[in-house]
Amino acid sequence: MLADKRILLIIGGGIAAYKSLELIRLLRKAGAAVTPVLTKAGAEFVTPLSVSALAGEKVYTQLFDLTDEAEMGHIQLSRLADLLVVAPATADLMAKMAQGRADDLASTLLLATDTPVLVAPAMNVRMWQHPATQRNIKALQGDGVRFIGPDEGEMACGEYGPGRMAEPAAILDAIQRALTAGPLVGKHVLVTSGPTHEPIDPVRYIANRSSGAQGTAIAAALRDLGARVTFVTGPATVPPPQGVQVVRVETARAMLAAVEAALPADAAVMAAAVADWRVAEESQSKIKKVAGAALPVLSFAENPDILKTVAQSLTHRPRLVVGFAAETDDVLAHAQAKLARKGCDWIVANDVSPETGIMGGAENAVTLISAAGSEAWPRLPKDEVARRLAQRIAAALG
Ligand code: C5P
Repeated sequence: MLADKRILLIIGGGIAAYKSLELIRLLRKAGAAVTPVLTKAGAEFVTPLSVSALAGEKVYTQLFDLTDEAEMGHIQLSRLADLLVVAPATADLMAKMAQGRADDLASTLLLATDTPVLVAPAMNVRMWQHPATQRNIKALQGDGVRFIGPDEGEMACGEYGPGRMAEPAAILDAIQRALTAGPLVGKHVLVTSGPTHEPIDPVRYIANRSSGAQGTAIAAALRDLGARVTFVTGPATVPPPQGVQVVRVETARAMLAAVEAALPADAAVMAAAVADWRVAEESQSKIKKVAGAALPVLSFAENPDILKTVAQSLTHRPRLVVGFAAETDDVLAHAQAKLARKGCDWIVANDVSPETGIMGGAENAVTLISAAGSEAWPRLPKDEVARRLAQRIAAALG
């Protein structure tokens, strides 16, 4: 799969460095050659001997190693690979990359290279969530650096949250995708997915039956064509895809904030089933059942229309804005009206009447509506609908 490919693997200083040994093994098994670079901090976690033994090659550690410079300068080293992979990438290493600093071998190679770079971050959850780290990630994404992970889960430091390095198999997949020149390479696509939860009180909420299956399949299909995907998801039942940037939200208002933070994007696909209304006065404490008292009455407030906001943005409108219309009757007429009302470019319309089994099911029958007209697609698995839609998006972004 990766025959004739050379990966320059920079191993940074984090406990996740042990997983990079497994990554080297997987890369070699897939046919790739691996040039390993171990940072000073990385060498505190794994030894140069184990790295070079698994890679079957010399491990580079020092910028000012005269032998290395005589045999191969750092500029040449940075350019002989098809892809530079940083795994694990610490907060510090990413900060250096974002600033263009070059004070050791790893950062110098990353600054000198003209080949694509894939980063697998690993750090404590607070460090990951810190505004400085998030700023650095945005800057690096703007420079075209790709990311895989981090995963969410229990961390070596005992805390829980995003920050675990992606698993070696997922990094291998991301490497394969990075080396396959898809039509959406260099493009950023925003996808919303899943339902939203609108709180009534701290323990109750209003929701809908969206599983997130179609949005998840679309995000994966766009990723497979090479796009950088930001996936803003409500509490869906289907897990989010690997290899996309996942932003989890609960409410429509939080979804709008996450969407606005993710812009600019080349295209936006709004597949989320956003609740139209929220409870006007969310109770800050659990509403009690009191014997003999009047039943609670909920009043509603309108939620922001995320699709409309993005489609009608004067400053950040993506070139292509795609909305969804889940209807139970008069599907085409409603969808055409929606296209005009929301100001989006395409509407993917589907009939979600219970007898169709589409909501939460594995298949979908959609009609693609644009200013040019409407096109009914046959009933297809949701993955296939996603693949076709991703191809259309790639063609439209040209
Ligand atoms: O108006 P309706 O909910 O039927 O429109 C569906 C489309 O609008 C979907 O693409 C959905 O993601 C989007 N939408 C939204 N924000 C809302 C309501 C719907 O983005 N508040």
